[in-house]
Amino acid sequence: MLSRFLLPVGVALLGANLAVADQESCDLDNKCPEDTPCCSQYGQCGVGAYCLGGCDPRMSFSIESCAPIPVCESRTFSMDSLDGIVDVSEYLGDASKADFVSQGEPIAYNDNVLLTMPPRSVGTVLATTVNIWYGTIKAKLKTSRGAGVVTAFILLSDVKDEIDYEFVGTELETAQTNYYFQGVTDYGNSQNISLSDTFSNWHEYEIRWTPDKITWLVDGQEGRTKKRSETWDDENQRWNYPQTPSRLQISIWPGGADTNKEGTIEWAGGPIDWENHPDMENPGYYYATFGEISIECYDADSAPGTNKGVSYWFDDIAATNDTVVDGDKDTILGSFLATGLDMDKGKSDDDSSDDDDVATIPGGSSSGTGSTSGATSDEDSNSSDSSSSDDSSGGGGGDSSNSGSSGSSDSSSDSSCDTGSFSQDCNGGADSGAAPERVMGASALAGIVALGALLIL
Ligand SMILES: *[C@@H]1O[C@H](CO)[C@@H](O)[C@H](O)[C@H]1NC(C)=O
Ligand SMILES: *[C@@H]1O[C@H](CO)[C@@H](O)[C@H](O)[C@H]1NC(C)=O
Ligand SMILES: *[C@@H]1O[C@H](CO)[C@@H](O)[C@H](O)[C@H]1NC(C)=O
Repeated sequence: MLSRFLLPVGVALLGANLAVADQESCDLDNKCPEDTPCCSQYGQCGVGAYCLGGCDPRMSFSIESCAPIPVCESRTFSMDSLDGIVDVSEYLGDASKADFVSQGEPIAYNDNVLLTMPPRSVGTVLATTVNIWYGTIKAKLKTSRGAGVVTAFILLSDVKDEIDYEFVGTELETAQTNYYFQGVTDYGNSQNISLSDTFSNWHEYEIRWTPDKITWLVDGQEGRTKKRSETWDDENQRWNYPQTPSRLQISIWPGGADTNKEGTIEWAGGPIDWENHPDMENPGYYYATFGEISIECYDADSAPGTNKGVSYWFDDIAATNDTVVDGDKDTILGSFLATGLDMDKGKSDDDSSDDDDVATIPGGSSSGTGSTSGATSDEDSNSSDSSSSDDSSGGGGGDSSNSGSSGSSDSSSDSSCDTGSFSQDCNGGADSGAAPERVMGASALAGIVALGALLIL
C-alpha cells in the first residue's frame, strides 16, 4: 500500500560533473522554475534525465517541459544478461537503443538478472524505455526476502497512475496487488493473492490492463480483477482508474530503512537487518531474481490505447486518457542539458561547458554499474565459504559468488551515502507537502543530490 512513492531512486552517486546547489522540490502546488523545469518521478527539479521517463508534466514548469515519451512497442526481454539495460546516466531518450534504464546495481547471474540491494543502499530499479498505454505485461521472478525488503513489479505513469504487484520480504506467500489513479492514496485499493513461497519459487506475474478492466494473474490463474466501472468518483466526476501511458518498473527497495516513516517500516515487515540476515552474509546483498519479461501493447485502432506514432505527451494537465496525444514528436534529448522546452540544447557541444550546477540525472549516476557487471562473471564463483551455500538460498543469487558480491558491495559503498551512514546524513530535508508517502522519495532524492550522497526514501 504505501509503496508507491517509495520506489527507490536507486543507488545514486554524485557524478563529478554534477554539483547541485539548491535543488528545488516540486509537487502539484509547487511547479519547477524555468531554469530547471522538469519534475522527476521523485519530486525534484532538474534538466536532462529529469525530463525523461517519470517527468510529471503537472508539477513541471509547463506542460511542454517534459520530453515526449516513447510509444508502446511489444517487446520480450530474456533477462539473461545485462544487454539492453542502460544506466540512467547514459540514456537520452532513444528507446531503440535500450530496453531498460537502471539506477542501482543489476547483476547478471546464471542466465537471470538480479536486482540487488547491498548493505545500506537504496536498492535497484529498472524502468522500461517504452511506455505502455494499456496492454499485457508478464514477468517471471523470484522475490527478495527479509524484513523490510520489498520487491515490486509495477506499471507507473508520469502522472502516477499505477498498477502494482508488491512483495514484502516477511510475507513470502502473499502477492499484494494495488492500483492508483494519479497517485491518490486509497487504502481500500489493496488486495492480496496467496501463492507458494515467492522467494524459493518462480512464478509468472501478469497484469492485463485494458480501458475497462485490470486483471492480475499468477501462473496464468486469475487472482484479482478490477473494473473501471467500479471506480467512478462522483465528487470529481471522473474514473479513478489508471489510464495513462506507463513504464514497467521492477525494483528492490528498503521499505524498512530507518529513514522511512514508521507506517512504511511496519508495512514492509520491520527494520532491515543489514548485518546478520543470511543474504547479507552470502551473497552479501539482498536480491530479487528476474527471468523473462514481456510487454504486449494494446494496439487500439483509436485512442485511448494506440501506439501509432513515435511518442506520447499530454495536451492538458488534467492528465486523463483523453488528454494523451499519440504523435510524432521526437523523444531524444540533445544532451543532459536539454529539456522538453529545448530538446537540442547542448547537442554535440561539450557538455561541461556550462550550467554545471544544474541537476541533470535524478539521483545521480550509479558508479556501481560498470564494476558490477564486471562482478558478474557467472563462472568464477563460489570458491570460498561453502558453509553458507545451503539450498534455502534457492538458486538465484543465493549462491552467488562471494567474489562477485564483494565486488559489488565495494562499488556500492563508494556510491553510498558515505559508507554506512544510510540515515540522517543522507536524508536531506523531508517535506514537500504531499501525502506523507510521497514525500520520502522526493526528500531522499533531495538529500542525495544535495549531499553528494546516495540514498533515498
Ligand atoms: C495482505 O496481507 C498482509 C500480510 O500478509 C496483511 O498485512 C494485509 O492486511 C493484507 N491486505 C489485505 C487487503 O488483505
Ligand atoms: C477517458 O477520459 C474521459 C474523461 O475523463 C472519460 O469520460 C472516459 O470515460 C475515459 N475513457 C476511458 C476508456 O477511460
Ligand atoms: C559452487 O561450487 C559448487 C561446488 O564446486 C558447484 O557445484 C556449484 O555449481 C557452484 N556454484 C556456482 C554458483 O558457481
